[in-house]
Amino acid sequence: MISNTKLILLIILFTLAQRPIETASNRSFPASFKFGIATSAHQIEGAWNEDGKGENIWDHICHTNPDYIDNGDNADLACDSYHKYKEDVAMLKDLGVNYYRFSLSWSRIIPLGIAGSPVNPAGIVYYQNLLQELIDNDIEPLVTIYCWDLPETVEEYGGFPNPEFEEHFAYYVRVVFQNFGHLVKYWITFNEPLESCYQGYGTGTMAPGYSHSGLTDYKCAHNIIKAHAKAYHVYDEEFRTQQQGSVGIVLDTSWYEPATGGAADVEASERALQFAFGWYMHPIAFGNYPPVMVERIDQRSEQQGFNTSRLPKFTEDEIEYIKGTYDFLAINTYTTVYAQAREEYDIDVISWDSDMNVDMFLDDSWEETGSSWLRVVPWGIRKLLNWLSKTYNNPEIFITENGVSDKDGLQDDQRINFFREYLSNVLDAVLDDGVNVTRYTAWSLMDNFEWQRGFSEKFGLYHVDFEDPERSRTPKASAEYYAQVIATRCLVDVCD
Ligand code: BGC
Repeated sequence: MISNTKLILLIILFTLAQRPIETASNRSFPASFKFGIATSAHQIEGAWNEDGKGENIWDHICHTNPDYIDNGDNADLACDSYHKYKEDVAMLKDLGVNYYRFSLSWSRIIPLGIAGSPVNPAGIVYYQNLLQELIDNDIEPLVTIYCWDLPETVEEYGGFPNPEFEEHFAYYVRVVFQNFGHLVKYWITFNEPLESCYQGYGTGTMAPGYSHSGLTDYKCAHNIIKAHAKAYHVYDEEFRTQQQGSVGIVLDTSWYEPATGGAADVEASERALQFAFGWYMHPIAFGNYPPVMVERIDQRSEQQGFNTSRLPKFTEDEIEYIKGTYDFLAINTYTTVYAQAREEYDIDVISWDSDMNVDMFLDDSWEETGSSWLRVVPWGIRKLLNWLSKTYNNPEIFITENGVSDKDGLQDDQRINFFREYLSNVLDAVLDDGVNVTRYTAWSLMDNFEWQRGFSEKFGLYHVDFEDPERSRTPKASAEYYAQVIATRCLVDVCD
C-alpha cells in the first residue's frame, strides 16, 4: 500500500518531470539589440465607422454573422485606441521600448480600398499624429502596412485571389509612403499572409471565411507575394533615395520538431517548414516556391485530373522581380508542433494539408496556455532561429511577434516565465549560435480583439477593462518585468 503522503510526493515529482526545467541565461543582451512591442489596427483602434473610415472584412463578418466570433464580440470600440493613442504612447514610454510595431488600417486611409478611389484626410491625420507622438517620445515606429483588415470593397472585387489585387495594394502603399514616409524607417508590407490565405480562404477560420484549401489559398498567396514585391519596388524606385528606409514582410511559423530522429520524420519536419514558411519566403529570397511544394502539388494536381497545377506559376520575369525583395527577415512565432511522416492522403483529398502530408501533434507535457494551439516550448524558438539563419544565408532577423495568452489576470506569472525563457533561448541563439537576431517584439501591448476568439483570449502586458466604456488600462506584472529587461538588458536579477 502506498501512503497518501508518498502519493502526493509522487504526483508532484511527476508534474515537475513533465515540465522541462529551463534556466534563464544570466548574460546580457548586446547593446545594439532592440526591444519593442506590437499591436494591430483592427485589434485595438475601434472607431470602426468614425471620421470616414470604410468597412473592412472583419467589421463585415462581425456585423453580418456574429456567431462567427466567440460571444458575438466585435471590434467596433475594441481598446478605443483611435481616441486613446496618447495613452498608448504613455504606456510604451513606461515600458521603455525602443520601438512600437503597429499597423495602419487600409479602410481608414482609403475607405473603399480600390485603386484610384478617394483618400480619407482624417485617416491620414490620425496616423500622422500617432507617428509624431511616438517620435516626440523617442519611440521608433515599425509600421505594418497591412494586418488582416482588408477593405470590404476590395474583398467584393475578388480579394487576394483576384490578380487585380496587386494594383489596389500598389495604390495604397504609394499613399502610405507619400504621407508617412518622412516619419518611418521600417516598413512591413503584410502581416502573416499564411494566416490570411490559409485561414481566410482555406479553412474559413478567419475573415472572409472561405474554405477552399489547396485552391484559393494558393491563388491568394501568389497575389500577395506579387503585391509585396511590387510594394518593395515602388519604395525602391520612388521613395527610398529620399526616405532611406527598409522594407520587409512578416511571416509566421511554429517550429516543427521531428517526432523522432528517423529520416522520414526529419523530412516531414522540413516539409512542414517549407509549406508554412518557405511558401512565402522561398519566392521572396530565391524567386520561386520551394521545390518540395512545386513537385508535390504539380504531381497531385495531375493525378487529380487538373489541367494545370493548383499551385500557380511565376513567369521568368516575375521570378527576377520577386527575388530579394526584403531588407530584413521578420518572423512571428509562438510555439512548437511535432511533425511526423504519414501515409499519403487519398488522392481525392484537395487541401494544403494533404499536399504537405505531415501529421502534426502537440506534446501533452508542454505547458498549456489560454489558447488551444499555443503551448510553452521555449527551446523551439532557438531551433527555429537556427533553421532560418541556415536556410536563408544568415540574414538580419527581426522577431516581430512572440507572446502568450493566459488566464492569470494582473499577476501574470505565466507570461513572465514565458518571456524569460523564450528570450533566454533567443539570447543563446545570438551569443552561442551566431544567429543575427537584432530585434525582439513582444505581443501584445494590451489585451485586444483576438480575431475569432473575440476578447476571450488575452495576450496583453496591460489589462484592458472591456466593461468600462473608457477602456481603462492597467499594467500587469509582466509589464514591470519587460520594462526591467529592457532597462537592464538582463533576464534575471543580476547579469554577469
Ligand atoms: C497575429 C496577431 C494575433 C496573435 C495571437 C499573430 O499571429 O499577428 O494578430 O493576435 O497571433 O494569436
